[in-house]
Amino acid sequence: MTSTARSFSHRGIAFGCDYNPEQWTPDVWDEDIALMTEAGVDLVAVNIFGWSHIEPRSGEFDFARLDEIIRLLHAAGIRINLGTATASPPAWLTRRYPEILPMAEDGTRRYQGGRQAWCPSSPLFRDAALRLVEAVARRYGDHPAVELWHVSNELGCHNALCYCDVSADSFRFWLHRRYGTLEALNTAWGTAFWSQTYSEWDEILPPRATLSSRNPAQSLDFHRFSSDELLGYYRAETEVIRRFSDKPVTTNFMVTAHIENMDYWSWAADMDVIANDHYLDGRLADSTAELAFAADLSRGLSGGAPWILMEHSTGAVNWQPLNLAKAPGQLLRNSLTHVARGADGVCFFQWRASLQGSEKFHSAMLPHAGTDTDLWREVVELGGIVERLEEVAGTRVEAHAALVFSWESWWATQTESRPSQAVGYLDQVHAAYGALHAAGITVDVVAPGADLSDYRLVVVPGLHLLRAAEAAVLTDWIAAGGIALVTYYSGTVDEQDRVWAGGYTGPLREALGIRVEEFAPVAPGETLTLTDGSSATLWSERSRVTTAAVAASFADGPSQGRPAITRNAWGDGEAWYAATHLAPDAYRSLIERLADAADVRPAAPATGADGALEVVRRRGSDTSYLFVVNHGSAAASVQASGTELITGMPVAGVAQVPGGAVRIVREELVA
Ligand code: GLA
Repeated sequence: MTSTARSFSHRGIAFGCDYNPEQWTPDVWDEDIALMTEAGVDLVAVNIFGWSHIEPRSGEFDFARLDEIIRLLHAAGIRINLGTATASPPAWLTRRYPEILPMAEDGTRRYQGGRQAWCPSSPLFRDAALRLVEAVARRYGDHPAVELWHVSNELGCHNALCYCDVSADSFRFWLHRRYGTLEALNTAWGTAFWSQTYSEWDEILPPRATLSSRNPAQSLDFHRFSSDELLGYYRAETEVIRRFSDKPVTTNFMVTAHIENMDYWSWAADMDVIANDHYLDGRLADSTAELAFAADLSRGLSGGAPWILMEHSTGAVNWQPLNLAKAPGQLLRNSLTHVARGADGVCFFQWRASLQGSEKFHSAMLPHAGTDTDLWREVVELGGIVERLEEVAGTRVEAHAALVFSWESWWATQTESRPSQAVGYLDQVHAAYGALHAAGITVDVVAPGADLSDYRLVVVPGLHLLRAAEAAVLTDWIAAGGIALVTYYSGTVDEQDRVWAGGYTGPLREALGIRVEEFAPVAPGETLTLTDGSSATLWSERSRVTTAAVAASFADGPSQGRPAITRNAWGDGEAWYAATHLAPDAYRSLIERLADAADVRPAAPATGADGALEVVRRRGSDTSYLFVVNHGSAAASVQASGTELITGMPVAGVAQVPGGAVRIVREELVA
């Protein structure tokens, strides 16, 4: 069941924030609104963590403060993204019903005192939450300032996997629906192994902590179940809202590094607009490319339509081991990169920096030090620029290449016993995306099995779990003339985590023209050399070509003499395979070679700032916008003609982009 989509309509690109006025005394609110107006804030999320304020005791509602906040925002012409307030249960609820508290895999409970302390399968939690949602929706459902509903907050951020008895029951119900019989389940999970055969449904548990590694098919299904369970919860809240309001409904996704528990491909159709939260992760090798990837994946979830950046940060976050401040100008570059890649909203967590609580060292639009700060001036500058981009809203990003991404493959890759713990799914995706990004190629991120007919180049990094039907979409598209690059560990298992026998890459084997006989991973830190002089790490394979041509072999390492990069003519197209983790420069060269063959080019020719320049085009029905983000310190120039929207200057043939700057050119008739 999916909800009936309502469209999100905002004037121009939304500029906004989470606003938590309950943390402050009312004398601050007027100043907040005045400063929001100064900064150009026009979309504000309120009531996200409001439960204990609006329902201080069970069944006792008090909306006085929220009424006033909404009145003030409305009077200032600020649109409201209204939280349902269910993100964090109040203490009275979990005290009365401790069974709501989630359970970790070792059987220990997680207690009140942080946030999101609720089991996604708990009927007690759901009843209490839906009663609250009904009260909120009844009160504000047709309020003219409410532009969007914000269900809960980052569903599954902390509580996605709950192992309690209630979850176990719900898991069994889900499994029963999926498999019908225990025989089918036993076959799917391969329970003949280690005497795990089930003869009663009640014997089945969530994959709680065990002495040895757990059944990987059980873990995979538990991931699927847990994602579905939270989506079911989202739907339940949405159904209540729908009884009182016809405004669009969404929740904020976490398409960001390290959050893996929700299969957003299966959630996307339920959102009236895709909203994403993204935070730079200083632990990554290339957090700039990761930001671009997350934005492209958000757009993919939106089917190419504009989406909203619901949260990001003006500066440092507080939850990484080391929380990096943004460099001068980085706030602007980060924000406008999201817009370049399809965001029609730029919002922040949060408006005013908290003085208390766990997030008091998290940056905000209005910092502790107040308005006489560089950060505030950057916020105001950004607000002004976003205002000038009104005409960009609604346009779509142009891409001729795609990257296939799968949460299921992420889960299957990360199972406990595998060839190398050093090989992670997201690392492979980031490496592939990083090579495309460095080559200046704009990519759409798509699900396995998605229609590829709009693309000329497709990259498939480490797609470990692959269904025959998904493989067929790819191989048929190649046969019709496409150029694909598949990388190592792809096509290893089917939907049930059962190995595709007969040589790895399974259902892609014939199209790739190779047979992988054995995996031969290498220790982190060791470097492999290929016969074309390029280097690689982490992985090698012992394979033989059947019909493919060898572009490079392993010159050393455990697979010395075996093919490392192959190319197979398949129908009218080419199926390439990389049996190792190419070093960034080698990966980029390979991508450039394939992109050239596929006639896939950067959005516009550029010189200078090599590798530090992002050039992306958004296209409307009768005009297009070229976004150029220069992350480097050297000036760059990009071929473009038209009017630059930030400076208002005409551009005739070449746009000069100083180091650290962003330029957005409304183009004259680009065919
Ligand atoms: C997420 C949450 C916010 C806040 C920020 C901090 O985006 O939705 O409530 O905790 O993280 O980065």
